[in-house]
Amino acid sequence: TGMFTYDPGFTSTASCDSGLTYIDGEEGILLHRGYPIGQLAEQSSFMEVSYLLLNGELPSPEEYEKFNYTISRHTMLHDQLRGFYQGFRRDAHPMAIMCGVVGALSAFYHDSTDIADPAHRTISSHRLIAKMPTIAAMAYKYSIGQPFLYPDNSLSYTGNFLRMTFGVPAEEYEVIPAVEKAMDRIFILHADHEQNASTSTVRLAGSSGANPFACIAAGIACLWGPAHGGANEAALNMLQEIGTPDRIPHYIERAKNKDDPFRLMGFGHRVYKNYDPRATVMQKTVREVFDALKVKDPVFEVALRLEEMALNDDYFVEKKLFPNVDFYSGVILSAIGFPTTMFTALFALARTVGWVAQWNEMISDPGQRIGRPRQLYTGPAQRDYVPLSQR
Ligand code: CMC
Repeated sequence: TGMFTYDPGFTSTASCDSGLTYIDGEEGILLHRGYPIGQLAEQSSFMEVSYLLLNGELPSPEEYEKFNYTISRHTMLHDQLRGFYQGFRRDAHPMAIMCGVVGALSAFYHDSTDIADPAHRTISSHRLIAKMPTIAAMAYKYSIGQPFLYPDNSLSYTGNFLRMTFGVPAEEYEVIPAVEKAMDRIFILHADHEQNASTSTVRLAGSSGANPFACIAAGIACLWGPAHGGANEAALNMLQEIGTPDRIPHYIERAKNKDDPFRLMGFGHRVYKNYDPRATVMQKTVREVFDALKVKDPVFEVALRLEEMALNDDYFVEKKLFPNVDFYSGVILSAIGFPTTMFTALFALARTVGWVAQWNEMISDPGQRIGRPRQLYTGPAQRDYVPLSQR
């Protein structure tokens, strides 16, 4: 009609102002509140990055301690929420459980509906960040038939999550520092990524004034899709299927063949037309985890060789397809002991910080309006109703 800009997939439409995350896809740059992701991943912690995303500045030592304490005060789940888990089949996908349980939190915290009050927004944000590890770990425990573990607030955010996931009441659980560090780093690398599909979903849901638990549940639903959060699971499955380096050329040829729907999973990105800066840190972290756990996984060799061969192939060079964050993360998560079905749940746990920070930014914006895209109508023109007996 000429009235609207037609932009399916929103490849060229900015839907909001945001001061959180900057991406230069051509150069492979990712900054949170101005700080490069590489520096944050190597030198900071997930709690510190969470504070930064929520508040705009790095915390002072006192602010950092207070933030950690506040989050630790909210790690428990209401005891009735345990009953929600029993309602699921044991083989339920953790993301199905996460959608349900996180959405249900709104029924437990009535103050969350008062989104006009910044104090209520803050406490909902803290609850979400604090409870996600407990919810995700319980989804895992339920799937393997082990008892739920209560949080232990003497541990770090990430150490606590590892213990709730892999610990059992019968034994002491010892957090391995290198694993804790790697896990924390993976959380940092997934904390925010500007207006990706799930974040846009959270903003759109939130633009109507919906409560934050419902909005984050919507984000979790979106993240579940294989083209978004499900990609690291797909990447690891692919690397395992390839199995040995001699089989790589066959898969590269398949990825290049337009008649074959196969794509190199963990390769290519809507925004990055250069090496994804998160993939660089991931690759390094694989080595650290393998050294600490004294494991070797042939899949890593396959990944390294595949990357090298693809980056030297004209098809991938011309289309600017580089490894993305998901290419190596599956290798690490599987070495730590997570089944592939948990991968997306871990992504959701980490991205909750970004979702919450983006939601807060939107609600605090005085110019905020309900999100309401338009369309180009392609249906029939106006016509008259024909009674059923005459059709
Ligand atoms: N293997 C082979 N060819 C590819 C690949 C790939 N992984 N990715 C893109 N291409 C080709 C594609 O066939 C197309 O070719 P042509 O122009 O000849 O039709 C061209 O590159 C552009 O691809 P597109 O699908 O139009 O690009 P997009 O921006 O819509 O898609 C993507 C981006 C990430 C969905 C896509 O690269 C892909 O499917 N990658 C594999 C899945 C993946 O790793 N996803 C994780 C994304 S990062 C984490 C997250 O967002 O959650």
